[in-house]
Amino acid sequence: MPVPEETMNRLRTVAPVILPSLLMCDFGNLEREVRRLEDDGVHALHLDVMDGHFVPNLTYGMPIVEALRKLTTLPLDVHLMISEPQRYVPAFVDAGSDVVTIHVEATPNPGEVLDQIHALGAATGLALNPDTPVTAVTPYLSQSDMVLVMSVNAGFGGQSFNPVALEKLSYLRSVAPESVLLEVDGGVNTATIAQCAAAGAQLFVVGSAIFRQPDYGAAVKQLCELAGGGIRR
Ligand code: DX5
Ligand code: ZN
Repeated sequence: MPVPEETMNRLRTVAPVILPSLLMCDFGNLEREVRRLEDDGVHALHLDVMDGHFVPNLTYGMPIVEALRKLTTLPLDVHLMISEPQRYVPAFVDAGSDVVTIHVEATPNPGEVLDQIHALGAATGLALNPDTPVTAVTPYLSQSDMVLVMSVNAGFGGQSFNPVALEKLSYLRSVAPESVLLEVDGGVNTATIAQCAAAGAQLFVVGSAIFRQPDYGAAVKQLCELAGGGIRR
């Protein structure tokens, strides 16, 4: 498994990065979906893990991460929308996660969990919901390889973009070490992605704006161009 620096440098090199969120994909044809996305030039995958407790929705756990790890060498950006993340971090790293993102709201000790993730050899992400003040994450920036700014309340795809994320992205870009990548997630589409990029986001999680489109590649290409990416193949 690549070390955190390798993963983050790989993402930084190809930024702006569109990360399809595996929540609305066709799980009955996971390999076909992954191959389509790989063929369409996607550089990483975003996995939405939900426990039905931290968020009022339930998705999947380590078995799907393990299955994806066997299917692809793309970086797996695992978004843990779960309570007590420290209990499951080892299993998600063992399953093949390259980046493990926890919610600052999900644990009283975010710093300890971030250190746990690093000690296990994965890169760290720290996520905050729209109602959480950005100052909740600033004490942990030195332990975060990336910050995930939610532009919807974690738990469901297909929600409307909350512009509060833009203020947080701009603030974080001004205070975070340059090495910290900024990711935005929720309601990111052709109408909102350019604002997110202008505010400082480098990683863009996209669900419905890809998986509800007939041509994933065309959607990814358009989104990447709107985010300031060079004309892709
Ligand atoms: C929501 C998830 C997001 C979501 C994105 O809790 O973290 O990744 O699936 O889906 P869209 O792009 O449709 O908002
Ligand atoms: Zn997500």
